[in-house]
Amino acid sequence: MSSLRKCSHAATYFPRSLLTHCADSRLLSTQRTTRTITLLCRDVKKTKPLRRAICAAFLGLNLPRGLARAFSSMPPPVEKWWTNETVAVVTGANKGIGYEIARQLAAEGLKTIVTARNAELGQEAADKIARSTGSSNVQFQRLDISDPASVKEFGKWAKAELSTVSVLVNNAGIAFKGNTFGPEEAATTLATNFTGTRAVCESVLPLMPEQSRIINVCSLAGKLRIIKSNALKERFEGASSPDKVAELGQEYVNGVKSGAFSEQGWPGSMYGVSKLCEATYTRVLAEQCRSKGISVYACCPGYVATDMSSWRGHKTTEQGAQTPVWLSLHAPLDGTGKFYSDCKEEPF
Ligand SMILES: NC(=O)c1ccc[n+]([C@@H]2O[C@H](COP(=O)([O-])OP(=O)(O)OC[C@H]3O[C@@H](n4cnc5c(N)ncnc54)[C@H](OP(=O)(O)O)[C@@H]3O)[C@@H](O)[C@H]2O)c1
Repeated sequence: MSSLRKCSHAATYFPRSLLTHCADSRLLSTQRTTRTITLLCRDVKKTKPLRRAICAAFLGLNLPRGLARAFSSMPPPVEKWWTNETVAVVTGANKGIGYEIARQLAAEGLKTIVTARNAELGQEAADKIARSTGSSNVQFQRLDISDPASVKEFGKWAKAELSTVSVLVNNAGIAFKGNTFGPEEAATTLATNFTGTRAVCESVLPLMPEQSRIINVCSLAGKLRIIKSNALKERFEGASSPDKVAELGQEYVNGVKSGAFSEQGWPGSMYGVSKLCEATYTRVLAEQCRSKGISVYACCPGYVATDMSSWRGHKTTEQGAQTPVWLSLHAPLDGTGKFYSDCKEEPF
């Protein structure tokens, strides 16, 4: 790929890296530089200071400090690595954020497997995505993540029909509304958001080649700070296997059943605990997958207007899908195991 093409492609997403690349490498001839500046000024927002900064970088001048800081917080460069044969699987893609993640991945040209527990709604969503993106590379497959038989069936189908899966977005999730709280509800929430996500990872992982990515859609409502007991916090931080995370989840369900959960240091949010287990599992799985060259990320989509939030979220599904899609396509491979929000790393 020529430097110019490399630069103009990256410009759409990564002006800072592009500027650094072009200014540092000094690979471009004067004529090419002029053409690339023109491309940049067209692709990047056309503000005067930004145009000046672009020109300054090309001329080897120092950027104004504010702009340099803005550029330096932008993500590092990642080239387009996928083709229309690269397979992405999205769970819970019949509506909400999952639908939008699948739509954006299909629009980017990946072969997109739309999964849902309701076959009719899932097929409808896949057809709609194919129509709206013009992609002939969108397929529906049924998957109920909380049903082990369905997960097994999906794994068998994927092995037979897809040679590999390079992107897995675990988006499917549930949250009981209002004041609903009880042992059965806690068990159901954990069974979907944590155990179901884990089961899908374990069934798809054997099909994932090096450089694949798993994105677990967690929540800022499931950060470590929701745990009141320091001893429990330490156990989450120190969890070294998926089974250890499962033990913690089961202890919470038992605590809700016995009524002792609060004095044991657990919060009243079943959803929060299930998402904390999912984020902790992400970290554990990332370590297990490191040697295979597979990256695993946790992220929060933000507060999004969907059925789950009773349409109260302030973000659109397009905005909510931004971080999971960015992680699917452009995440830094050294960010494995980390938690992201608004395309930036968040402390666990
Ligand atoms: N909305 C927010 O503000 C927000 C904030 C933080 C995190 N999140 C997370 O973002 C993800 C997507 O949420 P959303 O807001 O888009 O919610 P949503 O509109 O309620 O969509 C949830 C999706 O998950 C599916 N699902 C639930 N249980 C499933 C199962 N057992 N098997 C397969 N699919 C299942 C649902 O299918 P059905 O249609 O069949 O129910 C639906 O497709 C969730 O993991 C959620 O926790 C959302």
